[in-house]
Amino acid sequence: MHLPTPRGKLSASVAEALRSPHLHPVGASHAESQEDAALALWMLHELSYAGFTGVDEALEWDMGLVTLRRDLEAELERTLRERFPGSPAERPDDLVTAFFAYVEGHDGPSVAGHVHTQATREQVLELLRWRSVYHLKETDPSTFVLARLPRPARAALAELLYDEYGAGRPERLHSHLFAEALRSVGLDAESGHVDDVPLEVLEMNNAVTMFGLHRRLRGAAVGHLAAFECTSAVPSRRLVQGLQRLDFPQPVVDYYAEHVLADAVHEQVAVRDIVVPLVAAEPAQLEHVFLGAFTCLDQEARVARVLLDRWGVAA
Ligand SMILES: [Fe+2]
Ligand SMILES: [Fe+2]
Repeated sequence: MHLPTPRGKLSASVAEALRSPHLHPVGASHAESQEDAALALWMLHELSYAGFTGVDEALEWDMGLVTLRRDLEAELERTLRERFPGSPAERPDDLVTAFFAYVEGHDGPSVAGHVHTQATREQVLELLRWRSVYHLKETDPSTFVLARLPRPARAALAELLYDEYGAGRPERLHSHLFAEALRSVGLDAESGHVDDVPLEVLEMNNAVTMFGLHRRLRGAAVGHLAAFECTSAVPSRRLVQGLQRLDFPQPVVDYYAEHVLADAVHEQVAVRDIVVPLVAAEPAQLEHVFLGAFTCLDQEARVARVLLDRWGVAA
């Protein structure tokens, strides 16, 4: 993974501090824009994944960088909470039905619908570049929360992750399937296409990492995952048909085809076997579950609007 191109004073100073650890980054208040702040946080989060080529691994826990990360995360969390209208109910009697209804009720603009019947090849390539930031580390944010869940929810999440990580077969890891898809159309599959994505995509990735890294937000991590799984199978089917219409190479079709079946199962596991047992054991997490679910759906809708707008499609 290579360091991305800075988008302002703050992200430039983080890049400098990663290259030359004797330098200290400027404070969060020096961000020139939301995009600058989001990219800086994305870079700091990457230190907890595979990291950057040539950057000292010990910097993951450098006090100065951790302080900056916490300041940027606090700002992000404030933004997400401001957007969140609150849980639909104090204690939904039937959480399974309530959760599925909540997801259903937040149906945003559909990129998959456009790809299905209208999108050009160039538009799909752009979609793959934007998605690469998440899919090249697909499901990794959810692994952070695994050890923080009560036993039944942990067992179910481990089952879901086993599937996402290829069920014992390295060539079947979903992140690897996506990398193969990128390669098949001549796109870089090592660093992802961070330099090409807008604020909304950076923010989406930052939120899911923050939920995973903070034990306090474990309910949000689980709610986000469940909403993500619940909104994958049907769009994936439409993407498969759109990709076939455009004659995309088989690895791209295969990636989405895998998710038609897998996520129809994952959504059930995530809601019934992860969300429900977590809230049963820790009722205070209910609010966070819906914060996570709302954030997932809201950010997906924001990204879809920006993308469809770029393509001149009415959302
Ligand atoms: Fe997956
Ligand atoms: Fe999944």
